[in-house]
Amino acid sequence: MFMVIGATGNVGREAVDLLLEAGEKVAAVTRDPAAALPSGAQVVTGDPSRPDSLTAWPDGVEAVLLSPRAVSGAAAELLSLAAARGAQRVVVLSAATVEHPAGHRRFADEFRAVEEAVRRSGLQWTFLRCADFASNALAWAPQIRATGVVRGAYGSAATSPIHQRDIAEVAVQVLMTSKDAGHTGHAGHTGHAGHAGRAYLLTGPQSLDQRDKVRLIGEAIGRDLSFQELAPEQVRQAMLAQGLAEDIPDRLLGSLADYANTPGPSTDTVERLLGRPALTFAAWAAENASAFMTPADS
Ligand SMILES: NC(=O)c1ccc[n+]([C@@H]2O[C@H](COP(=O)([O-])OP(=O)(O)OC[C@H]3O[C@@H](n4cnc5c(N)ncnc54)[C@H](OP(=O)(O)O)[C@@H]3O)[C@@H](O)[C@H]2O)c1
Repeated sequence: MFMVIGATGNVGREAVDLLLEAGEKVAAVTRDPAAALPSGAQVVTGDPSRPDSLTAWPDGVEAVLLSPRAVSGAAAELLSLAAARGAQRVVVLSAATVEHPAGHRRFADEFRAVEEAVRRSGLQWTFLRCADFASNALAWAPQIRATGVVRGAYGSAATSPIHQRDIAEVAVQVLMTSKDAGHTGHAGHTGHAGHAGRAYLLTGPQSLDQRDKVRLIGEAIGRDLSFQELAPEQVRQAMLAQGLAEDIPDRLLGSLADYANTPGPSTDTVERLLGRPALTFAAWAAENASAFMTPADS
């Protein structure tokens, strides 16, 4: 059985579906007793950032997929519980900023702290250090629906956004196949084994700046969209006025400022691991077109 911590998240949901499709047993952890999860999954209700709340830990969990956000500062405690209950392996949804710094250091340090806790856990580990998710663009949906204009800072900030299904497919491949001890490093011709002790830098296939992403969403919904450049401080004040915590503009603007100077990394690791090209941002936009459309668009 595989345990997915963060099962209602972007990657977690896809990973649960893929594991079930592969005929595996899945324990899906959520804080929400009413979460809509597939009926085939065994729902474990509790807060992974308070591991003692996971009172119904199922027998037979051999490996865990871990979302750092869901586990917050409790990774060490949670993994010690997992190991005590017989788990052998953990796959971590970490961030590219761990090895390609961008933005305020404290955000990358949160991922580094989780990785460190995992290294010390005694479990076999694999880190998936992900670029920004394509799904982050959903934050633009209200503006696009209302005005067709995305107002933001650092329009030239470029990254290679990754489709969450690619992350989930890699995670599931690693969960299901890595029982052999490997060595630390990036993906080579790994075949099916040897994922243990590896940190994979996962990105989408194409470097795109913010204007490119807006244009591709426009193509997906058949509307001309535009990006309007604002001063970073204007964006910060607008986000705070919406009631967002200060950390949110800090996280966003800090990394965009750096990506405007130096584009985020691009790798072919997804393709090498999955044996097919990584999914494009355009494909993500086409799948999620309805989120950006008004009734008049359809
Ligand atoms: N977005 C990006 O660009 C990006 C890039 C690199 C790495 N990552 C990391 O990748 C991981 C997976 O991201 P994701 O978008 O699939 O999902 P996610 O945002 O981590 O959410 C996964 C689930 O964790 C639970 N959760 C969220 N906040 C929580 C909190 N404060 N305390 C306890 N539980 C909480 C929620 O589940 P319930 O409500 O069901 O409990 C949520 O559905 C995250 O750790 C994220 O930091 C993201």
